[in-house]
Amino acid sequence: MEVVICSSAGEAGSLAADKVAAVLTDAAPRAVLGVATGSSPLALYNSLAHRVADGELDLRDVAAFALDEYVGLAPGHPQSYASVIDATVTRPLGLDPNLVHVPEGFASDIEAAAVAYEEEIRDVGGIDVQILGVGVNGHIGFNEPTSSLASRTRIKTLTETTRSDNARFFDGIDQVPTHCLTQGLGTIMEATEIVLVAQGAEKADAIAALVEGPVSAICPGSVLQLHRRVTIVVDEPAAAKLSLADYYRATFAKKPAWQQFRTAR
Ligand code: F6R
Repeated sequence: MEVVICSSAGEAGSLAADKVAAVLTDAAPRAVLGVATGSSPLALYNSLAHRVADGELDLRDVAAFALDEYVGLAPGHPQSYASVIDATVTRPLGLDPNLVHVPEGFASDIEAAAVAYEEEIRDVGGIDVQILGVGVNGHIGFNEPTSSLASRTRIKTLTETTRSDNARFFDGIDQVPTHCLTQGLGTIMEATEIVLVAQGAEKADAIAALVEGPVSAICPGSVLQLHRRVTIVVDEPAAAKLSLADYYRATFAKKPAWQQFRTAR
């Protein structure tokens, strides 16, 4: 794991975007991007969008797969992840909407939709770079604590912690769906590269457990310790509980170019 501690959320977004852009450029012309919703990746998306607007980056041929979707929200609901991905990723990054995939949380046969989603990812040859956030309880995707570390795309019950964290996007917690369709931890682990972004003191415990704690289903994100190519990009408040923070800072300072620390795994 590479841990990069940044002085601001903007710097974190820009460094994470460097990494994502480099992988997508290497993988062109058939690059596949895994995208997360939520607040954490917004600075990263913003930085990518600027590069696209400036003509530095062209993502028109990039296929994208969302991590998860609520179950039961009507298609077109503004808080469905299909709508959120469209507004925060597809349009600003200039992706082709026909190449953007979101699990079908409104499908009548949710188990078939889960299997179909795995097949769609497999059919494009897998994900080149997966963007992740992390929940305060250590979830990645919507793999809540005690998720199988080998899990595949499936329906999950959201914890009350997650529902209450996400109530800010709805008119109260009662409006937040109780279930979701999420890529499993085993699915996420098959991405070639993973870039996880987190900001703010409320993520400090989750980041410490994910990076330095035991690999355990109680902190689902800790499974990333078993992946060979993971970069964790955090701001200072999110890094506050890392016991080896000085070591991560020194490691990064000695490797000035992004490409240089890509190889140190
Ligand atoms: C979103 C997702 C979640 C979020 C996590 C953090 O698609 O899968 O794991 O990344 O809940 O959410 P934010 O970034 O809003 O704090």
